[in-house]
Amino acid sequence: MSRSYEIPADVVCADDYERVARERLSPQALAYYAGGAADELTVDWNRRAFGRIALKPRVLGTAAGGGTGLSLFGQEFAHPILIAPTAHHRFADPDGEIATVVGAGGAKAGMVVSTEADLTLEEIAGAARTPLWFQLYIQHDRGFTLELVRRAERAGYGALVVTVDAPVFGMRNREQRAGYQPPKLSEHANLKGLHTTYFAHAELGESIMFNGFLDVTAQWADIAWLRANTTLPILLKGILSPEDAVLALEHGADGIIVSNHGGRVLDTSPASLDALPGVVRVVEGRVPVLLDGGIRRGTDVLKALALGARAVLVGRPCLYALAVAGPAGVAHLLHVLRCEFEIAMVLTGCAKLEEIGPHMLWDDGLREGQYSVSR
Ligand code: FNR
Ligand code: LAC
Repeated sequence: MSRSYEIPADVVCADDYERVARERLSPQALAYYAGGAADELTVDWNRRAFGRIALKPRVLGTAAGGGTGLSLFGQEFAHPILIAPTAHHRFADPDGEIATVVGAGGAKAGMVVSTEADLTLEEIAGAARTPLWFQLYIQHDRGFTLELVRRAERAGYGALVVTVDAPVFGMRNREQRAGYQPPKLSEHANLKGLHTTYFAHAELGESIMFNGFLDVTAQWADIAWLRANTTLPILLKGILSPEDAVLALEHGADGIIVSNHGGRVLDTSPASLDALPGVVRVVEGRVPVLLDGGIRRGTDVLKALALGARAVLVGRPCLYALAVAGPAGVAHLLHVLRCEFEIAMVLTGCAKLEEIGPHMLWDDGLREGQYSVSR
């Protein structure tokens, strides 16, 4: 791929990056980045959910003296838009996650680094000038998992984001059609030396899931075990059901990320935004609730916060921006999202994040009782 860090003049929002990235990525990389599970209905619903909600404009007030800063787990963030953990940034830029983290620093955005990054968590932390969290996949080998946690602690990561919604990846039909071959687990930069004999694979006539594969997958007890073995805050990523949110708190989670993994695991699971109020209701403010899935506009950020999220994470648009213009693209994308968010705040009469609530949604977002939020 020939690198140009020039941002095309007609790229002015997240979807513009997607349009241009589609021309620049290989068909296999595009299928991996853009695709979801099966028929990709959840991918679609994630975005449509934002389009169904109208904002309530307010005029002639003043938002002077406001701002977008927030504190999460003792870390300061300039605004509530973070980069979601995504694997394999080298498909988009030869410098991989280092290019991304440089872009994040430019826009003062926090970043969550994936276990399946193309560079080691230490290399990425070494280039960071912004708060980093480490996304942890609990590996079959729990000793190896704990060593990963220790490495993240030593490298200065501020929290662990434990992804719990993907004991097995979904049926990625788009990837299959494009002939995308994921690298072996043990070939990932952070997983060198990991040996596992547990794979989701079945010959004709065999069971794919009920053949021993599940004997070593993570369970609730592993969350309590992690909680007892690190002082880092632990967020569970991939919670949609209120029942699981309650269990997350019972097992010591310090935060919850409402997410369906960008529609990449269980197709026809609900849009993240539709699942958010139910989780916020049972959490009752005890820990921060964050959201990802389908965020493409500052107005989307505002709606997620209005329904109770403390911050949001953005996945695919960062990969597309990386593919189009490297670190400059990532910084520009995040800057645009922040600008859009601030403008939406002002046009709905809001100066500070704490003032954002369901009253900013048209009809208070209470249509059919679906969006009532107790905060
Ligand atoms: C992901 N996601 C993800 N999540 C995770 O916890 N660990 C990971 O390694 C990855 N890898 C990954 C790769 C790619 C290509 C994508 C698109 C997504 C899920 C990600 O963190 C997030 O939940 C979604 O991407 C959010 O949805 P949007 O913003 O992409 O719509
Ligand atoms: C994915 C994994 C890596 O969604 O989380 O591709």
